[in-house]
Amino acid sequence: MKVEIMSPVGQIAAAHPLTTRVFARHQIDYCCGGGLPLDKACDKKGLDANKVLKEIKDEIERNADQKTQSWAAFSPEQLIDHILETFHDPLYEELPRLAGMAQKVLEVHRDKDPEVLTTLSSVVLGLRYELESHMATEEKTLFPMIKQGKWTAALGPIAIMQREHEKVGQALDKIRKLTQDFKVPDEACTTWKALWHGLERLEDDLHSHIHIENNVLFFKVLDASRKGIQT
Ligand SMILES: [Fe+2]
Ligand SMILES: [Fe+2]
Repeated sequence: MKVEIMSPVGQIAAAHPLTTRVFARHQIDYCCGGGLPLDKACDKKGLDANKVLKEIKDEIERNADQKTQSWAAFSPEQLIDHILETFHDPLYEELPRLAGMAQKVLEVHRDKDPEVLTTLSSVVLGLRYELESHMATEEKTLFPMIKQGKWTAALGPIAIMQREHEKVGQALDKIRKLTQDFKVPDEACTTWKALWHGLERLEDDLHSHIHIENNVLFFKVLDASRKGIQT
């Protein structure tokens, strides 16, 4: 794929996975907002798109002979199995753990920062329930449709999942702001530190998770549906 200033950021990240380093450096959203062209995504962050494009091209060139995982060769079935194993399964354990820790930190340290800790606990709990229901829909409805090659029928649920991904992205932004970019406060106890660390990891995993769904799996289904490919 030729990378240009108008290329959608999600497609750049899907074709050249190491360019996500550049996106992370500038906090450019390549997963939930992956449909935006590079110039628009840079505008949103007040960045010079030509400079960012150069960084992306440098990153691609620097790693030209290095083997990175390209998702293009993966079938939808393989992508779904990868998503379930790498992202869904661990989340069913991690989300209750993080929500529990957020509640515990709130109960013990409420007086130190009541507003932030109360809001954080409610955002994490909301994210837990939202994601558990979202993953259940993917597993019970959408993924089976895709595995059966029902591309056109899958378009409706895909649109709903994309909207829910945006909501997840908003919750993650909120968490990043509330934790001041996951900077651990001086007075933080062990659970508090573990919570900040766990939330930063959650953000990282969810960005990869949503990126593979929106920009690789769903993109393949939309493309197949457009071309009228049936199994
Ligand atoms: Fe998912
Ligand atoms: Fe999803």
